[in-house]
Amino acid sequence: MGFVHRSWLRNQGYPDDHFRGKPVIGICNTWSELTPCNGHLREFAEFVKKGVLEAGGFPLEFPVMSLGETIMRPTTMLFRNLVSMDVEESIRANPLDGIVLLTGCDKTTPSTIMGACSVDLPTIVVPGGPMLNGKFRGGEIGSGSFNWAIKEGQKTGEFSDEDLLEAEICASRSQGHCNTMGTASTMATMAEVLGLTLPNASSIPAVDSRKKVMAQLAGRRIVDMVREDLTLSKILVRKAFENAIKVNAAVGGSTNLIIHLQAIAGRIGVALKLQDFDDLGSDMPLLVNLMPSGKYLMEDYFYAGGLPVVMKELGDLIEQNIITVNGKTFTENYAKAPCYNRDVIYTRDKPLQENAGIAVLTGNLCENGAVIKPSAASKKLMQHTGRAVVFETMEDYHDRIDDPDLDIDENCVIVLKGVGPKGYPGMPEVGNVDLPEKLILKGVKDMVRISDGRMSGTAYGTVVLHISPESTIGGTLALVENGDLIELDVPARKLQLLVDDEELQRRRDNWQAPEPMATRGYVKIYIDHVQQADQGADLDVLVGKSGSKVDRDLH
Ligand code: FES
Repeated sequence: MGFVHRSWLRNQGYPDDHFRGKPVIGICNTWSELTPCNGHLREFAEFVKKGVLEAGGFPLEFPVMSLGETIMRPTTMLFRNLVSMDVEESIRANPLDGIVLLTGCDKTTPSTIMGACSVDLPTIVVPGGPMLNGKFRGGEIGSGSFNWAIKEGQKTGEFSDEDLLEAEICASRSQGHCNTMGTASTMATMAEVLGLTLPNASSIPAVDSRKKVMAQLAGRRIVDMVREDLTLSKILVRKAFENAIKVNAAVGGSTNLIIHLQAIAGRIGVALKLQDFDDLGSDMPLLVNLMPSGKYLMEDYFYAGGLPVVMKELGDLIEQNIITVNGKTFTENYAKAPCYNRDVIYTRDKPLQENAGIAVLTGNLCENGAVIKPSAASKKLMQHTGRAVVFETMEDYHDRIDDPDLDIDENCVIVLKGVGPKGYPGMPEVGNVDLPEKLILKGVKDMVRISDGRMSGTAYGTVVLHISPESTIGGTLALVENGDLIELDVPARKLQLLVDDEELQRRRDNWQAPEPMATRGYVKIYIDHVQQADQGADLDVLVGKSGSKVDRDLH
């Protein structure tokens, strides 16, 4: 039997001793030329392999589906759970003892961690790292955040088509993922806070030679983790998830953390509710001055000292004595972390902002919850009642938003339906829809916008997201009509549709569910099984883990 397994592998030139009791390390690579943020991970895999070999392991690299945020349609979120299945089954079906996950662009981090959790082998994450700072005409521009500014600038005439062309390459001038504290940086930070990376791995720029060193050291470390049987479930304890919620507030991280962290918790078997994000995170101070909440970029953050400084600064606000992949606690790893720039990383005594975490809203418009990121919102709109201007679908929005006759002003509430997990399908990052051109030209910078969709981690505005239940399954959002009054009260955590119960019941009785967006294939499976946003939008059949054991042989 061993002959078949070994002989065919040996066609790649492995020496005999590789098969004599060495830990076999799977290097799960999300490299793809279609995922530009991960385009350098083939090279990184070679550094991981060096480390594995040095530590006496046998490295075998394997590809999984890769999710490129800027290219895939309709949204990478539709495929996060599919990638997690690919990762889970690839790990379990092959004779692997330990796993290195090479990640980068937004969904490549949560999807691979979710899959690995369902197998629960010793696992280490190697984050691909952010791009260098964007440089444009003497100033700094951040990935994603600049897109929103330039889109508005085009409408006001501030930017021409030529400006846009020049800005393209200036914004993305090195390998790596988005250089703002967008979703990719948030997810890399999350991986480090969960204890799944080597210390200070998350913010090293992709092109910095220290990133390669980190990849090599991760290769060495995973071999020892196998020998120590340091599995994911020994690291991913409830306190680790609580830390991730708290630190996300302190770094001004993306709202996308919510659904990804909940999905990961669901796989490893830790109970995490939507309300936990408010209870644990909303009082946390914002310490990191990075776009989109602040002014700097990930490169500056790394030079200032990165996550170790933040973790040390938070002190007893977080649990410091939990184990990480290097076998040490955060106290041991980060106790001496020096800060080199206090304009980038603030102190706990003088934070950039108090109470910076995500707020979870309830009310008749979101029976199972909705979220808003106050640090990215306008203070003056945090308590606001406005007239609803309703768009039934994303296409309806595109058709009418710039119609000069659209009855809308800056006090209205833009309501977008049909962009939830089942409805779009895949819950795209469209919640921060552009304001109507006629209001932008008037100088309006922000309006309340509500939807069952998500928002890019690089975006900003008074945007209520993740409304659950979504409109497509008959949540109250489906019943909102033009002219209804909507009350947003973030301090009171309320989102209310000011329509009486009798009228709402009348509308509910007349409501008809839209036709499903797919009748076959993976998308049908997704629509049939995806959970709502307040639960993490995993497929119901994927929640939990099955371990690494396969009871039946291949013949
Ligand atoms: Fe890949 Fe932003 S597009 S990280």
